Amino acid sequence: MDRPFSQACENNRGPILEVLEPLIRDKTCALEIGSGTGQHAVWFAQQLPQLVWQTSDLPQNHAGIRLWLEHQPSPNLRPPIALDMLADSWPDANYDVIYSANTAHIMPWQGVINMFAQVGLHLLPGGLFCLYGPMGYAGVIAPQSNIQFDQHLRQQAAHMGIRDFHAINRLALDADLVLLDDNAMPANNRLLVWEKA
Ligand SMILES: C[S@@+](CC[C@H](N)C(=O)[O-])C[C@H]1O[C@@H](n2cnc3c(N)ncnc32)[C@H](O)[C@@H]1O
Repeated sequence: MDRPFSQACENNRGPILEVLEPLIRDKTCALEIGSGTGQHAVWFAQQLPQLVWQTSDLPQNHAGIRLWLEHQPSPNLRPPIALDMLADSWPDANYDVIYSANTAHIMPWQGVINMFAQVGLHLLPGGLFCLYGPMGYAGVIAPQSNIQFDQHLRQQAAHMGIRDFHAINRLALDADLVLLDDNAMPANNRLLVWEKA
């Protein structure tokens, strides 16, 4: 099996780090939800050596993530655990950072609801939840490329689609997460950061 590769990950990892580095340079223990290929994990672990980075995803992605961890090992990288937002499979652990990129529009809405509820339970006070991806605002998706992406997702599977910031932020408030920042990112993405009260 070849290492899975995402060009988007190569493109967005630098801009994401630029925003997150000042916020998480003193944090020590991160959980990534939906590590995908594993490219973000190896990058953040290399760039933030003080931060233990726990990868996770559905089991079918673990082999690919392991290939990236073998290719670019870091002492602070942890092999993937099976973590499904539709199942009750959360580890008995707390984190001061939880990070997830491009997952909220892929998992069913019930998964997003569960994700916020569990993030609220597993983040330490003062811990950060960092969520990257495209967002709509007050029911409006923009620009045209994001409208097309949303249509493409919904054609692929009815449960997928770009989420609305306001609906997402309501889930965050219910989980005692206070919005710190909503950052505009390249390619019409957002990087949302909440702090656990
Ligand atoms: C578009 S990929 C993004 C991967 C990576 N984070 C990135 O930015 O390239 C979506 C990820 O969400 C994960 N995912 C989908 N449904 C999930 C669920 N119910 N629970 C946890 N992860 C899920 C997929 O396995 C996949 O890794």
